[in-house]
Amino acid sequence: MQTAFEKFGEDKRHHIINNFTAAAIEACGPAYHQEFIRDLLILLKTKKNWSMARHCYAPYYPDKTRNGSILWEEIMLHGDSSGYYIPKEESSLVFRCRELLSHLFPTLEPHGLMIGPGSAWARLAKEIPALRSMGVVNASAWDLNPKFADGAAEDIGRELQIPVQAIVGDFTKPLPDKIRLPETRPIVATMFGSTITQFSLLDQKNGNSPSLCGFLNNLHNVTYGNSFILATIDSNLDTERSLDCYRGRHFRTWQNWLWDFTAYMTGDNRFNPRSIEYFPKVDPETRAVIHSHIVMENTRIRINNECFRLKKGDLLEIGISQKYTPEEIKAAASHCDWEEIAVLRDNGSVRLLLYMDKHMSKEWATRVKSALKRAPANMLG
Ligand SMILES: C[S@@+](CC[C@H](N)C(=O)[O-])C[C@H]1O[C@@H](n2cnc3c(N)ncnc32)[C@H](O)[C@@H]1O
Repeated sequence: MQTAFEKFGEDKRHHIINNFTAAAIEACGPAYHQEFIRDLLILLKTKKNWSMARHCYAPYYPDKTRNGSILWEEIMLHGDSSGYYIPKEESSLVFRCRELLSHLFPTLEPHGLMIGPGSAWARLAKEIPALRSMGVVNASAWDLNPKFADGAAEDIGRELQIPVQAIVGDFTKPLPDKIRLPETRPIVATMFGSTITQFSLLDQKNGNSPSLCGFLNNLHNVTYGNSFILATIDSNLDTERSLDCYRGRHFRTWQNWLWDFTAYMTGDNRFNPRSIEYFPKVDPETRAVIHSHIVMENTRIRINNECFRLKKGDLLEIGISQKYTPEEIKAAASHCDWEEIAVLRDNGSVRLLLYMDKHMSKEWATRVKSALKRAPANMLG
């Protein structure tokens, strides 16, 4: 068997010995490792990097029973009992919209593009019912976590008996090389679990992450202007209750885990992951929940022979959960050439939004819009 040094070549040897553990690089691959370190450096230098939150889902950790993806699965399965109410509300909303979806899409024989499909529970409760109702003839599962992308491709391919490709990569960036979506059929992109709310509406508030417009422009490019988006948002503006859902026991454990992962990825044994704790707060101006972490005692992290000191009381902002109102998201989407064509709602605060690229083929656009007009009122929620 090749050692890590042989695998990555003699030229990388010096780099590995000096800085990081070969085991971590071997577990996640050099490209992901580099991306993590780049994001961590930005966070340590500027105290804010909203791209960092995605690493909480990372499945690469020596203790396989306790890695980011497994902890996330736990939130999805048991979260309701700890006050994390969105998954349950969302799945019942998707379930109730099946009839409408089967009225709008099957004659178009669309391609289903799952954006951030996530855990096995989410696939079962949301992606499978939605994609089945829309009559998709093939699909792709796009997630930066290979476990989630591969898991969705396997489960959905088996359940719906259609070809499904896994796309492992960042959905805010162009598609990875060699992956192409079908140009000759409409694409319905599903985005559940409030994934869309990780984008800020405004660029300047967004640190190093892309804004909603950046994401929508990217989606426009990779889908050739042929896509619809079916996304859920939690528009509950009661910040007390919103924040409560992020105080859930599981969620806290999951966020704190990022620092165990950091110790593993940097190979810095002297960094104490327990010295930093999840400390969510609400931005009063935008009502967004900022996923910040507070330094509880002085510590430091060494990367590339550079030492970053963290002082007691420092705040590190790693992500955002935006609370959009449907009106706000409509205005922002319209600005980047997406048209809202339907908003479906539950009894509380979760909304299912249907958007269409304004560059959509006229034929497909007309068919979906006229089917919407003909839809019985009880289907529209
Ligand atoms: C909030 S979870 C939602 C998961 C699932 N759809 C649900 O309803 O529970 C976000 C998902 O998007 C993935 N993700 C987050 N940021 C991403 C990015 N920039 N590129 C690709 N996947 C990303 C995560 O790995 C995770 O599976």
